[in-house]
Amino acid sequence: MDRDKATAIDTLQGPGAIDLGRSMARGYFITFEGLDGSGKTTQLRRLAESLTTKGHEVVTLRQPGSTALGNRLRAVLLDSRSETALGPLSPMAEMALMFADRAQAIAEIIEPALARGAIVLCDRFTDSTEAYQGGGRGLGSERVLDLHRAICNDLRPDLTILLLPSLTASLVRARRRNRRSVQRDGKDENRFEQEPDEFYIRIHNAYETIAAREPQRVVVLRDEEGDSSIDGIELRIRALVWDRIPALSPS
Ligand code: TMP
Repeated sequence: MDRDKATAIDTLQGPGAIDLGRSMARGYFITFEGLDGSGKTTQLRRLAESLTTKGHEVVTLRQPGSTALGNRLRAVLLDSRSETALGPLSPMAEMALMFADRAQAIAEIIEPALARGAIVLCDRFTDSTEAYQGGGRGLGSERVLDLHRAICNDLRPDLTILLLPSLTASLVRARRRNRRSVQRDGKDENRFEQEPDEFYIRIHNAYETIAAREPQRVVVLRDEEGDSSIDGIELRIRALVWDRIPALSPS
């Protein structure tokens, strides 16, 4: 990048913009977070398409899942029938399995991709464990963050996009989506959707706490703060990615 361009971009950077002086060889790690039904998976796919069109190598994955081990763990963790076969899953075991999935994904997919300069877009990461197991299950943030340091080498996303539509809208969408999925292909990912509304209120609050604690990393998109159509949110996400990571902007 030439000096004039760097200066021009410097002046456009928002307060949370990422340091341009970092090694250009390493890629960027962007995570998507939110309640079930927040629309993050659709938005991740759209951002991936947009970055790929601009010539970037983009690697996408979701958690739990995306590795052979992770896909097995996903079935255990999300299928509402697994507890019939395995007995009740303890909250600690649930948290440990989420981290086992994550450790494997980091080793197999995320670190190699970042090392070769790719952009990694990950559908959920440790913020989900802090929100769902730390908040929802009541295990607390500290325990989750300690495990993250120990198991994930404290790997931090460069940017986290947190989609927080209203709680009511998210719940309605998630429940409708999962009912459809069972009817269509027999795949059941309803274990979490069976939880009561209080569980989701705790998750929502935990996400708010994470966002307030780390405003440099976490950008919250709320329905009421702009165009909340799928296309509108896509444009808002593109703009914020360019603002926070100027190296990815098309100019
Ligand atoms: P999703 O792939 O449709 O987002 O579903 C993943 C589910 O797993 C969702 O209900 C959130 C839950 N989850 C946790 O409880 N903790 C975690 O660490 C992760 C990654 C997901």
